[in-house]
Amino acid sequence: MREFLIAPSLLSADFARLADEIRDVTAAGADWIHFDVMDNHYVPNLTAGPLVCSAIRPYTTLPFDVHLMTMPVDSLVGAFAEAGANVISFHPEASLHVHRTIELIRSHGARAGLALNPATPLAVLDHVLDLLDVVLVMSVNPGFGGQAFIAQTLDKLRLLRKRVDATMQRTGRPLLIEVDGGVKASNIARIAEAGADVFVAGSAVFGTSDRAQAIRCMRGELATVGEHADLAAMK
Ligand code: DX5
Ligand code: ZN
Repeated sequence: MREFLIAPSLLSADFARLADEIRDVTAAGADWIHFDVMDNHYVPNLTAGPLVCSAIRPYTTLPFDVHLMTMPVDSLVGAFAEAGANVISFHPEASLHVHRTIELIRSHGARAGLALNPATPLAVLDHVLDLLDVVLVMSVNPGFGGQAFIAQTLDKLRLLRKRVDATMQRTGRPLLIEVDGGVKASNIARIAEAGADVFVAGSAVFGTSDRAQAIRCMRGELATVGEHADLAAMK
């Protein structure tokens, strides 16, 4: 059975009570904490930097999944690694030297992710996929929470799933497909069937008062996908 991870995005949390919010989703059964970094330059919104990341990091032992929507990228990598980031993802359009940025992230002991916007082709993965730990597929245009899932992402995920499976078989290294934007209980099964492993969910988790129920509901949907996948594999 495939393993699926749920990563609540703090973007939709109550910023006045971030520590409590992190404790709440940790107790509710989250797998990763997704931390969105927006710079009002690469994306039209502004969130928080390494100081905030470092301040809230002690409130959970879960991996911190830092999604950089900043340009440039490299100057922030060391600070986020020191602030406790376990995964650092960035957008290829925001880095002049994508290969160098990936190496930089890994040199700091973090896992490296490349984030693909809805219109960014999978071809940007050519020549670097072997070095990555995560491919973050954006299913909305980055910048805001609460947007609708872009349906074309499903075709992209199916194509990417094939590439990632072939790559993992060749390299023997784990490589995760993460999807970010508009994920909720009503569409999570279809997204998983298309190939995603990690599900970022902002408004779908933090927008409800019972986060445990929200995560349980998503896991319930994902459990049916696992059964289907097992059945398909037996045929
Ligand atoms: C959007 C961010 C997402 C956002 C997702 O640019 O990268 O992580 O928080 O929010 P929802 O799940 O509400 O679409
Ligand atoms: Zn994100």
